[in-house]
Amino acid sequence: MALPEWDGELTSVRHDPETGAWFVIGVHSTRLGPASGGTRAMVYPSVDDAVADARRLAGAMTLKMAAAGLPMGGGKSVIALPAPRAELDDATWRRILGLHAANLNLLGGNYTTGPDVGTCSADMDVLRTLTPHVFGRSAAAGGPGSSGPMTALGVFAAVEAGVAEAGFDGVDGLRVLVQGLGAVGADVARLAAAAGAKLIVTDVDPARCAALAEELGAEVIDTGAVLTRECDVLVPCATGGLVTAEVAGTLPCAVLAGAANNLLADPYAAEVLRRRGVVHAPDFVANSGGAIHLVGREVLGWDADAVADRTRAIRDTLAGIFDDARTHGITTVAAAERRAAATLEGAL
Ligand code: NAI
Ligand code: PHE
Repeated sequence: MALPEWDGELTSVRHDPETGAWFVIGVHSTRLGPASGGTRAMVYPSVDDAVADARRLAGAMTLKMAAAGLPMGGGKSVIALPAPRAELDDATWRRILGLHAANLNLLGGNYTTGPDVGTCSADMDVLRTLTPHVFGRSAAAGGPGSSGPMTALGVFAAVEAGVAEAGFDGVDGLRVLVQGLGAVGADVARLAAAAGAKLIVTDVDPARCAALAEELGAEVIDTGAVLTRECDVLVPCATGGLVTAEVAGTLPCAVLAGAANNLLADPYAAEVLRRRGVVHAPDFVANSGGAIHLVGREVLGWDADAVADRTRAIRDTLAGIFDDARTHGITTVAAAERRAAATLEGAL
């Protein structure tokens, strides 16, 4: 069997016949420091899909850490569940966390995990009783708490940077469409509403839409309308792979800035957006507030104010990236990757 190409360092794949779960850890790079990235737990169509996702997400973490100037490498865990998390009983989930902790211990600190889609601070609390290689415990368990609020603060800074680049005078009065109203999206919606945006929201969970409609007076749209609804700023905060090159060719917004990791399904989509003049904040910069929170608090000893200041600085980082992209006639993704590559090369 030919091994699929990947420029990362290590992939660990384990199976648990008892639960049917598969555990994948991708360590993409330890050049800047031990690798870190969250644990994603969800159902995958196949083990190959889970491996590919872990590797892609680990690569994005390398770029994220480098772009944010954090002394960490990039990694990611994927747990391919036998059934949706909500359908698993407590004993099964507990066994899965126990096996994941054992896998983390085998890597001996070369990789530290944290929360991601399908896991939360409470899961990190459990993991931390079994392994030291965990960020993001709840405050009650002595950790810095959820990365969601800082990720949201950073995404809103990215929205502000994008809006300025697109020539608008602030977010006030702009139509801001937030897709996915979970830990990050709901807080981005609150920040946008507080800045005077006309808020449009969508989520597969109608209760989340209803709650924000009531709290913020947001207009709720069908999930299927997210790529066709005209707006000034589109803020994807659900899952990745939303923007294919074809979608990029028609997306009716001026600014694209969100939290979803690996938002572009196809790298060429970035070029399509550039040619159409859509200002695109690369995901691994826009959503780096969570990494700044976890690494800042747990590795660098920063307090909450220092973390928030560094997170707000995402706005300036993106302004520089937009400037580079404009000056050199390249995509914003290429401009951000150049900066990350320079940091990685400097660490050799
Ligand atoms: P979450 O799981 O709390 O929220 C995701 C929301 O998206 C849920 O409300 C879900 O119902 C909704 N959703 C799922 N599919 C949808 C669809 N097709 N259309 C509309 N809504 C849909 O996740 P969280 O933590 O808010 O993260 C959101 C995204 O941001 C994820 O892609 C995650 O990888 C990324 N991210 C999160 C960070 C964090 O600190 N939480 C940090 C960096 C990136
Ligand atoms: N999973 C989140 C992200 O993609 C938060 C996180 C950052 C988790 C760094 C662990 C380490 O940024």
